[in-house]
Amino acid sequence: MCGIFCYLNYLTPKTKKYILETLLNGLKRLEYRGYDSAGLAVDLCSGDVKQTVIVRERGKVAALEDLVRLNKELNMNEMCTNHCGIAHTRWATHGEPAPRNSHPHRSDANNTFVVIHNGIVTNYMDIKKFLMSKGYSDFESETDTEVVAKLALYIYNEQPSITFQKLVETLIEMVDGAFAFLFKSSKFPDEVIATRRGSPLLVAIKSRMEMMTEYFPILYSSDINAQSRKVAQSGDMPSGVALNGHVPPPSAVPSTTASVEAGEFKLGGMEPVEYFFASDASAVIEHTNKVIYLEDGDIAHVDNAGGLRIVRTKKKHANEKEFRYITELQLSLEQIMKGEYGTYMEKEIFEQPESVVNTMRGRINFETGQVKLGGLVEYLDDIKRSRRLIMIACGTSYHSALATRQILEELSQLPVMVELASDFLDRNTPIFRDDVCFFISQSGETADSLMALRYCKKRGALCVGVTNTVGSSISRETSCGIHINAGPEIGVASTKAYTSQIISLIMFALLISADRISMHERRKEIIRELKTLPGKIQKVLDLRESLQELAMKYYKEKSILVMGRGYNYATCLEGALKIKEITYMHSEGIMSGELKHGPLALVEPTMPIIMVAVKDSVYVKCQNALEQVTSRGGWPIVICDEDDTVLESIVEKNRKSKQEGAPITVKVPKTVDCLAGILTVIPFQLLSLYIAVANERNVDCPRNLAKSVTVE
Ligand code: M6R
Repeated sequence: MCGIFCYLNYLTPKTKKYILETLLNGLKRLEYRGYDSAGLAVDLCSGDVKQTVIVRERGKVAALEDLVRLNKELNMNEMCTNHCGIAHTRWATHGEPAPRNSHPHRSDANNTFVVIHNGIVTNYMDIKKFLMSKGYSDFESETDTEVVAKLALYIYNEQPSITFQKLVETLIEMVDGAFAFLFKSSKFPDEVIATRRGSPLLVAIKSRMEMMTEYFPILYSSDINAQSRKVAQSGDMPSGVALNGHVPPPSAVPSTTASVEAGEFKLGGMEPVEYFFASDASAVIEHTNKVIYLEDGDIAHVDNAGGLRIVRTKKKHANEKEFRYITELQLSLEQIMKGEYGTYMEKEIFEQPESVVNTMRGRINFETGQVKLGGLVEYLDDIKRSRRLIMIACGTSYHSALATRQILEELSQLPVMVELASDFLDRNTPIFRDDVCFFISQSGETADSLMALRYCKKRGALCVGVTNTVGSSISRETSCGIHINAGPEIGVASTKAYTSQIISLIMFALLISADRISMHERRKEIIRELKTLPGKIQKVLDLRESLQELAMKYYKEKSILVMGRGYNYATCLEGALKIKEITYMHSEGIMSGELKHGPLALVEPTMPIIMVAVKDSVYVKCQNALEQVTSRGGWPIVICDEDDTVLESIVEKNRKSKQEGAPITVKVPKTVDCLAGILTVIPFQLLSLYIAVANERNVDCPRNLAKSVTVE
């Protein structure tokens, strides 16, 4: 959660207006990550000493933009040859959304150190107590982040000759929890330091200099950590707070490698260069496509000569990679713009005929029936030999695992478990070396899924990522995986990623069963249907007008029940999640086999109900469930196959006079059982969208949520 953005221009003169617009635009691209407040810090460039100005506002980035415009201190025409500005959009964890709790946070009234943060500092209370005992007591916010800004000042005051880099190295040793931090300081003008542990962060480079390499070397710094820890052990400091007024002097610390100091791998130097730091690539793509994804423990420092270096305090293990890739982004700006659509969610729903093709492109040969997943090639034999497959995920991604469990069991003939990442961790679930664990995540950054991944990795299981975000933590930390290729998903409600996740997992099931003669016909049928899927999705999207009508029937309701079973149980859970998430209406996905064990008590003529029942192996059972509901006065809308007349007649015979004229069914094209969930979920995506619009909800940024949930 929270979006971090920084723009640093070195020897590239820019007006303050340009700098502010760049920061605000960067934030707008990251707004999906959190949007209850926003803020930025820029310098006044005239005068001998650069003074930092902070502007913060509750609400969306547009509100901050208005406030910036009104700010009397900022001269829009002022020219800045070198400048570093940082900006943040927040998803509140500590302290209500309010300007005082918004980032950047500052060390003192002079804004000597300012910091923006994504994540949670778990020992902030201990650090706060420690700082207060040292006389740093002017706390302005209820956040965990403010202590970090004050801690930076404390370290600096204790050791005024410390370098910026050493200061941050020292500081992060004292901080527990997850974070991506950006630091800026009037003591180190035009410099910035970025570091991460558990929260995503990248640096993008815009330079006229041609990059002669795809690799960016890592430098290893001093053993400052060990020294700090020793100090901590000797005093009665709270765990993690190691200072006690004894910051090791820089002289005691071997300097970072001379080669970089000498400019061997110094981007910038006396060359003009611009840097962007961001939580994700969508914020930088309009400026440059050269990106380095930082890893946990990396400290990226742009110094006052425009040079960038990435430092780590020490090697974690001998075969640790000593470089970072300079990635060339393939994303285009158009891919992340709304185009003709009112919201990103709407655009993403209507992109599905295309996004599912992109997921399958180059992977399925529809002529020969061959399936190829490049990312799994080397591991396929290990996977086939495994004891069980475990799919671990959260939210919509978890539903995609549920939606494909049955076909995976059938085609792989292996036991398949599906786990909610949070619960999986709570239970300390036993994991073995011959388990294969799949981590399904659109963002690839979800904290619970990432923690579960680390847990499984530690126990020797083969970890496979199924993500939509190249360079994400999950895609980097897994041994192999499938990129779902759905294209950027900006709306908080996941739509096209869900259908592409299902297709990716089905392709995996097809791949793993390729040499099973007994599965031949079944595989052929699925592959044939995958080919026709984009056209069928389009047909469901063409139902939008009747779904708009249905939305007008439902939009004032308090609750909607969604019932189904078999493959479509996942549709019910996902449909109900979509309704809750963006309409704020209560909705519950009910396994219809469970009706008589409780939920039937909710059924009455006025209760809105949607049932999903297609002609698959549980069709007759679904018919029974429909009878149970209608005979108790329930009057559901049924999502069914286009040639179905039976279900319609069951509802029809129970029609009450006041229900005349209202739609009874939403008919979707017929497909094979394991793909039906892709077609039956789309009416829910559209219905929730139209209900939310009718209620004037913020479709792309629903209250209290964020796109990327990087906190546990
Ligand atoms: O990025 P992930 O797929 O790991 O995210 C998991 C959930 O947070 C996510 O699917 C969430 O449930 C969606 N907002 C639902 O639309």
